[in-house]
Amino acid sequence: MKKGKKLYEGKAKIIYATNDKDLVIQYFKDDATAFNNQKKTTIEGKGVLNNRISEHILSNLGQIGIKNHLVKRLNMREQIIKLVEIIPIEFIVRNVASGSITKRLGIEDGTVLKEPLVEYCLKDDKLGDPLVAEEHIYAFDWATKEEIKKVKKMILRINDFMIGMFRGVGIKLIDFKLEFGRFKSNGKNEIILADEISPDTCRLWDTVTDKKLDKDRFRKDLGDLIPAYTEVAKRLGILHEQSNVSAVNVTKISSIKKRK
Ligand code: TMP
Ligand code: ASP
Repeated sequence: MKKGKKLYEGKAKIIYATNDKDLVIQYFKDDATAFNNQKKTTIEGKGVLNNRISEHILSNLGQIGIKNHLVKRLNMREQIIKLVEIIPIEFIVRNVASGSITKRLGIEDGTVLKEPLVEYCLKDDKLGDPLVAEEHIYAFDWATKEEIKKVKKMILRINDFMIGMFRGVGIKLIDFKLEFGRFKSNGKNEIILADEISPDTCRLWDTVTDKKLDKDRFRKDLGDLIPAYTEVAKRLGILHEQSNVSAVNVTKISSIKKRK
């Protein structure tokens, strides 16, 4: 597989072409942004951890039949993925109220929701990813009714699976963001899960202490982001127990276990 030219650079990842027209390379950067780029920094080692954690979650989802863009991880920062046309909607799934919904609707942080709540945001940084209604999606042809029906079905299965996976390692899945894309193969258009699932795109709280193990550590200036992401990776069984990842020596994660 030959790495070609840069096709797209986002806030946390870069996409490169390959010599296969259906496949691209997704590179995880160390850049951290919040509140639509108003706040940004570089956190050494974040990309390495997100690459591993996202690989773990997407390959597990693949095993329960959730089609997704992951083909395989290439190295510490890169994975081969299927090239999709991204549906320009960020699908936010909430099990517990936290973050923007608490401010927008005056809901107390930590309120457990009766059932998962799915919100739609238009994926447009210049507009600040505004919340939209399902009707807007159809009115402006961002996706078809059939596509959203499929996406919703997948979202609920993904949420169930992820709640259980994290619960098993002492973590509460508060909320997360998903993106989906259209993959064209043999003239067929398939909706598959895309982007990444990592502590950058989820809120993850320790079950016992409610300690935040996600990007809120950066958003809220709590510090210790790398130890928190490392904790998530260790609990998921991705890192050997002895690996002591700190913000300074994270590039030496030599003991990362090779998964099958
Ligand atoms: P919010 O509380 O800011 O709306 O975020 C809800 C969840 O979605 C949280 O886990 C962070 C994630 N998220 C992203 O991954 N990317 C984004 O651009 C936004 C707005 C949220
Ligand atoms: N990902 C968005 C940003 O970088 C929002 C966030 O995660 O808070 O601005």
